[in-house]
This record gives sequence, C-alpha cells and structure tokens, in this order.
Amino acid sequence: MSWPEPVEATGRLTELAHARLAAYVRTGDTVLDATAGNGHDTAFLARHAGPSGHVYAMDIQKAALESARKQSAPGTRAAGITWIAGDHARLIEHLPRALVGNLRAAVFNLGYLPGGDHSVTTRAPSTCAALESALAYLAAGGVLCVTCYRGHPGGEEEYSAVLEWMKRRRHRFARAWRHIPQNRRLPPVLLIAEKQA
Ligand SMILES: C[S@@+](CC[C@H](N)C(=O)[O-])C[C@H]1O[C@@H](n2cnc3c(N)ncnc32)[C@H](O)[C@@H]1O
Repeated sequence: MSWPEPVEATGRLTELAHARLAAYVRTGDTVLDATAGNGHDTAFLARHAGPSGHVYAMDIQKAALESARKQSAPGTRAAGITWIAGDHARLIEHLPRALVGNLRAAVFNLGYLPGGDHSVTTRAPSTCAALESALAYLAAGGVLCVTCYRGHPGGEEEYSAVLEWMKRRRHRFARAWRHIPQNRRLPPVLLIAEKQA
C-alpha cells in the first residue's frame, strides 16, 4: 500500500488545508508560514493562533512580503507576526533556537507567487532542506502542511521529492494524509503529516 494513501479531495485544496490546520492550531500557539506569498495562509494562521500566539512568516521575495503584510493587517484578535525575507532552506538562521520542538504547525504552500514573477518558484532541493529543518522545529503532535503544484516547470519533480522525503521520514510521523483532487490533469496535492509524539 502506498503511504500516505491518496484520498480524493473535493473543493479547494487551500480550504481543505485550512480545515486541517484548524484542528491543530490553538490560541497561544507559535507557527511557521514558510512561503508567505500573498499572505492568505499567514492571515489564517494569525487568526487561529490569536493574540497570545505568534506567526513566523517567510518568503524569498520582498514583493511577496509586501503583499502578505497588506493581507495580514495587525488586529487585536490576531497573533503577532515576524516577517522574514529569506530562503526557507536556511530556516535555522532565521528562527530562534528556543523554538526547536515548539512549533505547532509549519505550512508550505509551494510554487510561485500568484500575480507575481512566475519564474521564482520553490524548488525540490531547497524545499526538502526546509522541510527537514521544519520537522526539527515542530512540536510532538504538531502538523506539517505542504501543498504541491505540479503544472509549472519543476513542479512535478518537486512533488516527487517531497513525497519521497516524507516516506523516508515516515517513522517521525504519527499519521499522514495525501489529498488529490480528481478529474484534473496534474492536480495539486496536499500533504499533511502529524509529528510523532
Ligand atoms: C504559492 S506562493 C505562497 C502562497 C501563500 N502561502 C499565500 O497564502 O498567499 C509560493 C511562495 O513561495 C515563495 N518562495 C519560493 N522559493 C522560496 C524559498 N526558497 N524560500 C521561501 N519562499 C520561497 C515565492 O516567492 C512565493 O511567494
């Protein structure tokens, strides 16, 4: 049997990802958005972590961080956000060491910035390096959420690399899901994995 077993997804993958994350992220949690992009995931995480929580939001493009900042205007009911301009492959240079083993969620929404420069995409080697670091930062019972897009150059290769990485790290996860919409050519894939306690 292939692991994680593919499950048909209906509706938008981003909504499904948020529904899954909502089951994990609680008020006061510290979480990571490793690809802030236009800030939709950052804003979602900030709402769920609440005023006593914190979000570390990272992107390699300054244009993305500017867009994400607008989407995630600070509010009294949302978590504080630390914006990080940089490559998530170098996560450990940017996140405090004290957070190792303490993140409740790490979110990777891969690919390029919608409405931005489509030639700047996440890539298999740096994504896998970042996932490895994110796993170290995750708390026991925390969740890793990765959305892979396969339609752009390098996307299919990146998805295969992420899936292989998850399989190699299988012993580190208590459970995992792989959601794939049907009836689409090269559909995006949502991978969710809960870190072993
Ligand atoms: C699909 S978008 C993210 C969407 C975003 N989460 C949202 O809610 O709007 C992918 C983002 O990954 C960023 N990215 C690409 N390579 C990266 C890297 N090595 N490190 C960090 N971010 C990267 C891109 O700049 C782009 O903004």
